[in-house]
Amino acid sequence: MQTTSWVPLFPEQASTFAWQVDLLYFYLIAVSVAFTIPIVVAVFYFGIKYRETEKYATPDEMHGSMVLETVWSIIPFIISMTIFLGGAAVYFNQFTPPDDAMEIYIVGKQWMWKAQHQTGHREINELHVPVGRKIKLTMTTEDVLHDFFIPAFRTKMDVVPGRYTYMWFEATKPGKYHLFCAEYCGLNHSGMGGYVYVMEQRDFDNWLSGSVAGQTPVEQGRDLFMNKLGCASCHAGGANQRGAVLEGVFGHEVKLTTGETVIADEQYIRNSILNPGAQIVAGYQPIMPTFKGQVTEEQLNALVAYIKSLTPGAGQQPGGGMTSPGTNPGQAANSMTPPRADRGAESAPGSNPNTPANSNTNR
Ligand code: CUA
Repeated sequence: MQTTSWVPLFPEQASTFAWQVDLLYFYLIAVSVAFTIPIVVAVFYFGIKYRETEKYATPDEMHGSMVLETVWSIIPFIISMTIFLGGAAVYFNQFTPPDDAMEIYIVGKQWMWKAQHQTGHREINELHVPVGRKIKLTMTTEDVLHDFFIPAFRTKMDVVPGRYTYMWFEATKPGKYHLFCAEYCGLNHSGMGGYVYVMEQRDFDNWLSGSVAGQTPVEQGRDLFMNKLGCASCHAGGANQRGAVLEGVFGHEVKLTTGETVIADEQYIRNSILNPGAQIVAGYQPIMPTFKGQVTEEQLNALVAYIKSLTPGAGQQPGGGMTSPGTNPGQAANSMTPPRADRGAESAPGSNPNTPANSNTNR
C-alpha cells in the first residue's frame, strides 16, 4: 500500500478529479498567504513608522483616491471570481455522473457500509472496483445521516435517509485506499469505514469469479415483485391490471391524477412504494397499500433495479468486464429463472461470504 504522496500529510491522488481538487485547494492557500503576509508586514511597518513621536499632533487631511479604490475593488473581484468558477467547474464535474458508469448500490447503516454490485456480489466495509472505469454509486441509508468519503479520490457525499444520493469517480491507480464515514452518526462513527480496492480489470474479473455472487439486484427485485411482496398481482396482470403499468416507464414522464407530470426516476419509484397515495398515476385508483416498514433499503434498491430493467435501455451497466448469463437487465422481464437463495444480505461485518481471500492487489 502506497500511502505517500508528493505533498507531505496529503493522501494519494488516485482519481481523475484528485488533482483538480488539490489545485483549487492550493490556489486558495496561495491567495490566503498572498494577502496575509503583506497585511502582517504592513501592520508592523506602520506601527513603527507612525508611532507617537509628538504629543497632540494634528494629522494631515486625507482625500480619496479613485485609482486606489478601483484597484482594490477589481483585484479582489477577479480573485473571488476565479475561486467561484474553479469551484463550480470541479463541483459540476464531480456531481454529474456519466451515463456509461458502472453502477454500485451503497447502503449506510450504523455502523457499516454495505455495497451491492450489479452482478449480485455484496461487500461490507469494502468496495472493489476496476481501475480506469467510471463508477457511479447510488447511495442511501437505513437509519441516520452518513457521509461516504474516499480521501484519495477527493470525493465525498452525504448519504441521506429517505432519498437517493449519487457520487461517481474514476480511479486512476490500483491500490488500497481508506474509506470513511464523514458525518457524525453515533457511538461508533469513527469505526464506520473500510477500504476501497482498486484493481486492474483482469484482477477485478478474477475477484468477481472467485467470490460468491448472490442474486443480482434485478433478480432479487423480481423475486420480491413476483413472490415475496406480491406486487405482480396488481402490476403484472396484462390489459386489465389494477396497478399502473411499469413496463417502459422508467426515465419517462408519468401523468398523475392531479394533472401534473413527473419523471419516473429512482426517487419516484421509491416514493411510490413507500407512500403510494402521494402520486397516483392518472387512470388508476388509490388502492395500493404502503410498503413502508416492510422492505429494507436493500430490497427497495432491488425493486427499483427491477422496475428499471422493465424499460430496455434504462441504462444499468452490468459490473466489471465479466457478464454472466442472467445479469443483463434487458432480459430480466422475460427470463423467469427460479430465485436463488438470498444469502449474505444480513451478514455481520467480518463474516461477509463475499470477502475475497486474495483481495490484495497492493503495489
Ligand atoms: Cu456513519 Cu458517521
